[in-house]
Amino acid sequence: MRENRSYSWYVILALTLTALVRPSGGIIAQFTVQTDKNPVHRKTLNIPLRLSDQRSLLSSEDLEDQQLKALDAVHTSAFASHPDVGLEHIFAPLERACHPDCTKRGNCNAEDGRCECPFGYTGPTCDEPLLPACQQGPGLEPFFGLLASRNCECLRQANRFFGCSPTNETCTLVSMSFHEVQCFSFTGKVPSEQWSQMPAMDEEGVEYYKGWINRRVDLRRVEPREGVVGGDIWGRPYLILPLEKCGHHKCHGRGACAVELPSAELDSIFTASNGTKHFCMCYKGYKGHTCNEDMWELCPNRCRGRGQCIRGFCHCRAPYWGLDCGRERAWQLAPGASLVPNRLVLRIYVYELPANVAFPVPLDDNVFDMDEPSYLTHRKFLEMLLLDTAIRTENPLEANLFFVPATAYSYSSNTNSPVNQIEAALKYVIVNFPYFNASGGADHFVWTTGDRGACYLPRNLSRVIFLTLFGLHANLRDNATTFLHPRPEHHPNWGCVHPKKDVVVAPWYDNMVGSEEAPRVYENLVAAEGESPERYLLFFFAGSVRMHDMSYSNGVRQALFNHLKALFASNGNYSDILFVEGYTASYGELYMRSRFCLAPHGGGFGVRLTLAMAHACIPVIIQDQVYQPYESDGILPYSQFALRLSKSDIPNIVPILRAVSVEKQKRMRLAMAKYYHAFLWDASLGGRAYNYTIKALNQRLHGLWGRLWGDPHRRQLRVA
Ligand SMILES: *[C@@H]1O[C@H](CO)[C@@H](O)[C@H](O)[C@H]1NC(C)=O
Ligand SMILES: *[C@@H]1O[C@H](CO)[C@@H](O)[C@H](O)[C@H]1NC(C)=O
Ligand SMILES: *[C@@H]1O[C@H](CO)[C@@H](O)[C@H](O)[C@H]1NC(C)=O
Ligand SMILES: *[C@@H]1O[C@H](CO)[C@@H](O)[C@H](O)[C@H]1NC(C)=O
Ligand SMILES: *[C@@H]1O[C@H](CO)[C@@H](O)[C@H](O)[C@H]1NC(C)=O
Ligand SMILES: *[C@@H]1O[C@H](CO)[C@@H](O)[C@H](O)[C@H]1NC(C)=O
Ligand SMILES: *[C@@H]1O[C@H](CO)[C@@H](O)[C@H](O)[C@H]1NC(C)=O
Repeated sequence: MRENRSYSWYVILALTLTALVRPSGGIIAQFTVQTDKNPVHRKTLNIPLRLSDQRSLLSSEDLEDQQLKALDAVHTSAFASHPDVGLEHIFAPLERACHPDCTKRGNCNAEDGRCECPFGYTGPTCDEPLLPACQQGPGLEPFFGLLASRNCECLRQANRFFGCSPTNETCTLVSMSFHEVQCFSFTGKVPSEQWSQMPAMDEEGVEYYKGWINRRVDLRRVEPREGVVGGDIWGRPYLILPLEKCGHHKCHGRGACAVELPSAELDSIFTASNGTKHFCMCYKGYKGHTCNEDMWELCPNRCRGRGQCIRGFCHCRAPYWGLDCGRERAWQLAPGASLVPNRLVLRIYVYELPANVAFPVPLDDNVFDMDEPSYLTHRKFLEMLLLDTAIRTENPLEANLFFVPATAYSYSSNTNSPVNQIEAALKYVIVNFPYFNASGGADHFVWTTGDRGACYLPRNLSRVIFLTLFGLHANLRDNATTFLHPRPEHHPNWGCVHPKKDVVVAPWYDNMVGSEEAPRVYENLVAAEGESPERYLLFFFAGSVRMHDMSYSNGVRQALFNHLKALFASNGNYSDILFVEGYTASYGELYMRSRFCLAPHGGGFGVRLTLAMAHACIPVIIQDQVYQPYESDGILPYSQFALRLSKSDIPNIVPILRAVSVEKQKRMRLAMAKYYHAFLWDASLGGRAYNYTIKALNQRLHGLWGRLWGDPHRRQLRVA
């Protein structure tokens, strides 16, 4: 499936999870192998309060003690019941108006009076295109991608739009540095007359270019036949034709008209162009033969049935607005009201970021569409949070945690640094809202779903809470960690996550082999009191090894491979051990037949722990210095249901595992039955990963109470 990775975001594909979904040949046995009594910040506020004044919230004078107690009582009961109902004496509805025509193309955000526009548009009515030359004509949707040819002016506009800088590598869209792009230009036309409708190869007055658009735009002129070749994400060449060639529907202006080329040889272009196998290669967000179908799955909660999905942007029916059309109301402090921070109940405020700041589909060519839900864990979380009225609040004044949905993965993909996009999203929040500065970011959280999670993030972001799938907490100067090279802008002393600040989350991987059967497997297991006689294998592993790259899995897979190879060459009887280098179609079956299953990581987070849990195979975690999901908080008692070995234990792995008594194995499996839910997300499978994530965030909140609000010795803050 991912064999022809000609693009660098696949090159170091750290997860060797493709094997688990992919059916292949049958040979498996081959050895190729957080009330406080303390006064907090009290504030008497000037009313009405403008959003931009709310910074004063945390810089105000203390009220009299009596007053405080009374307020505390009010808030305590009110906050504890429902975020909106019963708080009329404290919060008043806020309804900022937008331009009357805002809702034609956008949504009116009543909180800041901003018209929320689809990607590529701005202005009070969303009719100012930000990438006009990426449109196939005036008024048409702008698409930006790297694989099919567009107007060169489009690339220049994108280069600016994504914040590229000639001096530094600052594009938010990291992948722009990986692709040589091709483009065309209509001779003699000014930039405002350049559009991205594909010309015919022999069309007069067209120039073709190839080159790079990272940092700066660097293009060189090429022959027309070179300019008309595009590619798909697997590197297969396609000839891109004028849209008319695909029919009068012109792919509804939402795709390229393409025909596959038999080879990268330019000669094949002529043959292909005369062929009849033209088809609409739809840009991401659309599907169907003529690209006339919307990809609703890109829109959070499918816009709750309250709007139209435009490539991940919900265009909501008024009065609804927000990421998933879930918002109808906004709040301000009621006249005369005072506020104390809500310290009792976790309430998360989700920022509504403009599509131009954070968008799930900044690139239209499906390049990040890897069918692997683990990379979309942030989206799953977002969808669940948006619907979770007990935790999510539409009122930032009563929130105690703030979620910045930066969709960084869409900008950086699995193995690249998400830092540019995270900084861009945070910058928006820092400039436009008071809450970040009030806490220095300590009550804000961001997801980093890529393979290496927060590993690349600079120190000045270190107060922000990261939700990550990869819990490396290593001293990167320690040679035992070959995994990452220390870099001065990183935290050399804690590697990627801080166990008391960040949250390591279980990947959303619910479509994996075995997840559907998990509830039944555990039912049977509990009925059998933990016995599982059908597990004839002592242990099993299948996946890639990468002898040439010892940083991969921090050398664990490689060491295992070498150890077992030597073992198997000796005289012992090891027929109950199976190590498959690479793919096996029988992955699920083998998990069900094994007592122990190895869970090393890959080039970043791994999914084998999740798989082992789904199959009730006792996980043997060999990931030195890597916190596992919900481990650092003590939320999950790993020692009850998993074994943790060190890389240095590998030479003794067989005797170690053989020494685990049958009774202990039974106890461990029964403990797994209690906790496997933590590794699944979908409620239909009994998944509770969301709940565990919320629980972990709640613990973070408790930690913050002390630091932000609870210190009696802290200098008393003044009223604004
Ligand atoms: C570019 O990066 C260097 C080193 O990181 C920094 O000193 C310099 O100020 C940056 N320049 C710009 C224009 O951001
Ligand atoms: C393709 O069609 C053009 C005319 O439309 C013709 O000149 C050319 O020979 C054809 N090429 C092939 C390989 O059939
Ligand atoms: C927060 O602080 C930054 C840096 O000091 C400043 O640029 C920004 O305007 C502040 N945000 C608000 C909303 O005042
Ligand atoms: C962190 O520092 C970089 C420059 O090193 C700056 O561009 C960025 O805005 C800073 N981020 C925050 C949140 O202060
Ligand atoms: C770590 O490795 C480097 C280079 O291999 C070596 O120079 C250094 O002495 C090692 N440090 C320790 C503590 O072993
Ligand atoms: C090897 O051990 C297995 C049990 O682990 C046993 O069933 C098998 O007969 C043994 N084979 C030999 C050749 O001793
Ligand atoms: C988990 O969270 C969901 C909200 O998404 C809630 O409906 C459910 O009751 C929670 N489950 C448990 C076991 O707490």
